[in-house]
Amino acid sequence: MRVDILTLFPEMFSGYFSSSMMDKARALNLLDIHLHDIRDFAQGKHRITDEPPYGGGGGMVLKPEPIFGAVESITGLDRMPAQGKDLTTAQESAISDKSQRQTEVPIILLTPQGRRFSQEVAWELSEEKHLILICGRYEGVDERVREHLATDEISIGDYVLTGGELAAMVVIDAITRLKPGVLGAEGAEEDDSYQDGLLEGPHYTRPESFRGWKTPEILRSGHAAEIQLWRRQQALRRTWQRRPDLLLDADLSEEDKYYLMVLAEESSSEEGNR
Ligand code: 6GU
Repeated sequence: MRVDILTLFPEMFSGYFSSSMMDKARALNLLDIHLHDIRDFAQGKHRITDEPPYGGGGGMVLKPEPIFGAVESITGLDRMPAQGKDLTTAQESAISDKSQRQTEVPIILLTPQGRRFSQEVAWELSEEKHLILICGRYEGVDERVREHLATDEISIGDYVLTGGELAAMVVIDAITRLKPGVLGAEGAEEDDSYQDGLLEGPHYTRPESFRGWKTPEILRSGHAAEIQLWRRQQALRRTWQRRPDLLLDADLSEEDKYYLMVLAEESSSEEGNR
């Protein structure tokens, strides 16, 4: 997968991209990252990338030209209406029709106003051969980038970051670890929290007893089927306790549902004891 990243701060990515998972993904030819400094596409002696908003108000807004320029240098596609020609309404709407562009490379604007990133979106994007990520900055990005260039907008959660760079790293990390061979154990990504809509249960490693706190007997029993059942129940229990909202969309067997009833009875009898 090729990922082009447009940013005003390419240096923010160097530490993360030298991490072992990224190294491995690159060595396996699963990931080909290209960083582009938006400033390189800015015009004039001062290469201005942002200006105050029309209509006043605080902050600065990223200008459209350098961002369109950077994307077009990657795609080789010119999205500008022909010079000197007035476009008909039909032509205008053809240019801005996002559905027409869906088959092309996704051009993703990272913004707190985007659709919420999730494990499901990570799987969806991991199918792509090529992604272009635009990291927003300052107070915002000129609306024409959103309207006529981006094909998708993603937010990583309900809080505001100073820019899209950290969000881009989050998105790339989540996608990359889904590629076969990137994680240590084959299929380790299958048991992840959120993979089947549940949180993961607890993990233990040596020593068997640490400061008197023991590891569960069953994990050392060697009974594979019982261990699997125990893990499933722990995952259900943890999800029930911490993120019951996830249970509404989770992939649950009849056995899972029965165990949830047991948990529900357990907690209602605890209520009664109080
Ligand atoms: Cl993608 N960008 C910014 N600036 N803030 C965010 C975000 C993105 N996702 C959550 N907060």
